[in-house]
Amino acid sequence: MSILLTPEKPFAQGGNRLCFIHPGDASRCIKVRRPDFTLADRRRKKGFPKNLKPLSSFDDNLEEMRVMTALRKQYGELVFRHVSRCFGFVETDMGPGLVSELIRDANGAISQTLKKVIWDEGLTEECRGAVEALAVFWEKNLVPSRHLLLHNIVVQRDDQGRIRRLVVIDGLGSAGLVPMRLLPTVFQRKKIQKKVAVMHGRIETLLGQRHQDRFPGYHGLLMHDGLSTR
Ligand SMILES: Nc1ncnc2c1ncn2[C@@H]1O[C@H](COP(=O)(O)OP(=O)(O)OP(=O)(O)O)[C@@H](O)[C@H]1O
Ligand SMILES: [Mg+2]
Repeated sequence: MSILLTPEKPFAQGGNRLCFIHPGDASRCIKVRRPDFTLADRRRKKGFPKNLKPLSSFDDNLEEMRVMTALRKQYGELVFRHVSRCFGFVETDMGPGLVSELIRDANGAISQTLKKVIWDEGLTEECRGAVEALAVFWEKNLVPSRHLLLHNIVVQRDDQGRIRRLVVIDGLGSAGLVPMRLLPTVFQRKKIQKKVAVMHGRIETLLGQRHQDRFPGYHGLLMHDGLSTR
């Protein structure tokens, strides 16, 4: 039976997907394609030669499922310290939906993105430590990811409001043609160090934007906290 998402209010939207709390399980979320930005729209936007690739290669949900299965095989449980779990596809009234672990704080609220936290508080000592822990984990385990964007990382807090961990919820896998694990380790490490350096660069850029009166862009803001409304 198809899960009805149309009556629900999404808690967030990215450039490609709408995110809903799973109506049958509040500890999970369902991600569907944005109806206003189809796979065909996405392919068209890419231009030549990328627009020659098959439509399915533009589907983030398929790609995420593929990468998550590979990661679990390669790393086992360890990887889920800093990566959200993935539970496969369900049928919804908005098309196929990918079910993932919904990252919530100890008080039940959906965890905020790193972008929002740094925008609100600057880079506190605590946050700097959490970013460092993620960077060390990424480099040590050579987790393949595209750019570590600040709106694709969420900050999970404990019951004291302290940062428990950072969790990457999107952007896994490698953008290159050759799967990363097939490359020599030195090369993999170099690539990952570059991703981490870009993440630090993005943090600096965001810190430099904090004098502006408006949050830059809509990526990384929640539409509700998952407690008061649905
Ligand atoms: N598992 C999760 N737990 C908590 N929040 C999440 C989770 N997945 C997504 N979110 C929230 O929803 C937003 C959008 O989700 P997601 O990044 O998966 O969409 P997208 O359209 O693929 O993004 P992009 O614009 O990076 O392509 C995130 O920035 C985050 O705030
Ligand atoms: Mg995203």
